[in-house]
Amino acid sequence: MKGRIVLENINQQLVLVIGAGPAGLYSANKLAEAGKKVILLNRDIKYGGLAEYGIFVTKNKMKEGLRKQFRKILASPNIDYYGNVTVGKDSKISLKDLEDIGFDAIVISAGAQGTKKVGIPGEEAKGVYHAKDLVYHYNHLPPFSEQLFPLGDKVAIIGVGNVMVDIAHWLTHLKQVPNVLAIARRGPNERAYSDKEIKNIAFNMDQVDIKQELERIRPILESIGQNVDTTFTDLVKEANEPYYDKPSPTKFTFKFLCSPKRVVANENNEVIGLEVENNELYLKEDGSVALKGLGTTQIINLTNVVFAIGDTVDGNLGLTVNKWGEFTKNETPYNNDPNANLYELFDTDNNTVMKGMFVIGWSRKASDGLVGIAKKDGETGTKYVLSYLDTLTVAEKTADQRIESLKNLFKERNLTVVSKEDITLLEDVESQEAKKRALEFYKFNHNDDMLQAIEHQKVRV
Ligand SMILES: Cc1cc2nc3c(=O)[nH]c(=O)nc-3n(C[C@H](O)[C@H](O)[C@H](O)COP(=O)(O)OP(=O)(O)OC[C@H]3O[C@@H](n4cnc5c(N)ncnc54)[C@H](O)[C@@H]3O)c2cc1C
Ligand SMILES: NC(=O)c1ccc[n+]([C@@H]2O[C@H](COP(=O)([O-])OP(=O)(O)OC[C@H]3O[C@@H](n4cnc5c(N)ncnc54)[C@H](OP(=O)(O)O)[C@@H]3O)[C@@H](O)[C@H]2O)c1
Repeated sequence: MKGRIVLENINQQLVLVIGAGPAGLYSANKLAEAGKKVILLNRDIKYGGLAEYGIFVTKNKMKEGLRKQFRKILASPNIDYYGNVTVGKDSKISLKDLEDIGFDAIVISAGAQGTKKVGIPGEEAKGVYHAKDLVYHYNHLPPFSEQLFPLGDKVAIIGVGNVMVDIAHWLTHLKQVPNVLAIARRGPNERAYSDKEIKNIAFNMDQVDIKQELERIRPILESIGQNVDTTFTDLVKEANEPYYDKPSPTKFTFKFLCSPKRVVANENNEVIGLEVENNELYLKEDGSVALKGLGTTQIINLTNVVFAIGDTVDGNLGLTVNKWGEFTKNETPYNNDPNANLYELFDTDNNTVMKGMFVIGWSRKASDGLVGIAKKDGETGTKYVLSYLDTLTVAEKTADQRIESLKNLFKERNLTVVSKEDITLLEDVESQEAKKRALEFYKFNHNDDMLQAIEHQKVRV
């Protein structure tokens, strides 16, 4: 029996998972349960991805629940974690460096770190922000936590999904910006945010202004059979219940049927407005509601513009990206399984399937759903990774030998990597800080502070 275990260890397959957000962590869990050795590399010192640095700051209980699950996964001896390691063309470690080590499979679960741009003039003006940067900022993720995002008194958010609601929540209750405006390219009934999330800011809705806005677009809503009165009632249904004991003075409203065309800036390149094209709506054959630009524009006076229109993948990672901002995937069914085709990567530069390289979570489909969806996607993709691993013969080098090569690479490139044990030490320091300051949680804003705290704690325990 003992001999058999040793033999299994010698032949243990080694899988690299790049990105320790929910998709990567749940994938690592399935791989470890199947007896594979897993190396998790993560850009951030802490694992969790958007579950740690995206989910809104007031949802600490939810985050703590997820952290517990992640800790349990990482307790597996089959999983090694290396945080503070960014993989990319311009980083100290490239994908090619890692491929050269000879992992049996590589899983990309780096989320959607690219910035989706609309491509309008003035998008680079001072005071224009992208939602992810703000979300990372208020969730204390370096380097965004270290940057300043000055705000004026009228902030427009482009897009009406749940990310818009999170940003509006931050602007309303934490920043108390006087006026917040959500700009939708389609109508109120095509909003993407959920009723549950809007409750956080609904009490700040400027119902008079919203009513006027619906009157402005009444003919267009009625042209596709939508009722303005029921739309209004539905839109403001949560607006009479204060969600917070101390309501903020912020006024929140909407502008519908407007597509951004140009950011208007002053002589100092600071935002002073946004030119938008007015849209009409029509019903497509499948019943969905589409927009058509009317060619007329209007300028909305503003101090800031925040794009909350979803994200794209990171082109710097070293994989080919298609015109929709997604990593290119193998369109041919893998293993004759028609559902598996879009988990395997495809290199369009060389027109080849990237054998043994898979993609899951928001790296596979950017900005797609909640943690539960990323988990499911990670686990589904892992099934195909496992079936690929079954087709392999024994690698020339053992898992340990290849892990040694990885560690040597870290040394060669002067990387300060953080282990799962180090994260436990960091969490201890942060929870002590929280207690001292009587806060629900405390997070360091700088990587150096986190690394120092880990080192101090190592000496103490
Ligand atoms: C603002 C916001 C709020 C949200 N709120 C909720 C919520 O309340 N409830 C809910 O269920 N879902 C919420 N979600 C959705 C949820 O966070 C995502 O579904 C989920 O986190 C996606 O998981 P992922 O692992 O694919 O990507 P991510 O969570 O983005 O994880 C990617 C990981 O990859 C790492 N990485 C990135 N680039 C590299 C690189 N080059 N090299 C190495 N590592 C890299 C990152 O450090 C990160 O740890 C929210 C999303 C956003 C944007
Ligand atoms: N608290 C939570 O539970 C929470 C919080 C944040 C995020 N999330 C989840 O994370 C995912 C991503 O959220 P998201 O808000 O980024 O995406 P989303 O739900 O897809 O919403 C994106 C919004 O941006 C608009 N948009 C897209 N491209 C645009 C363009 N070029 N010009 C103008 N508007 C444009 C969309 O309008 P159209 O509809 O017209 O395309 C839509 O209103 C979602 O699944 C969301 O539920 C959950």
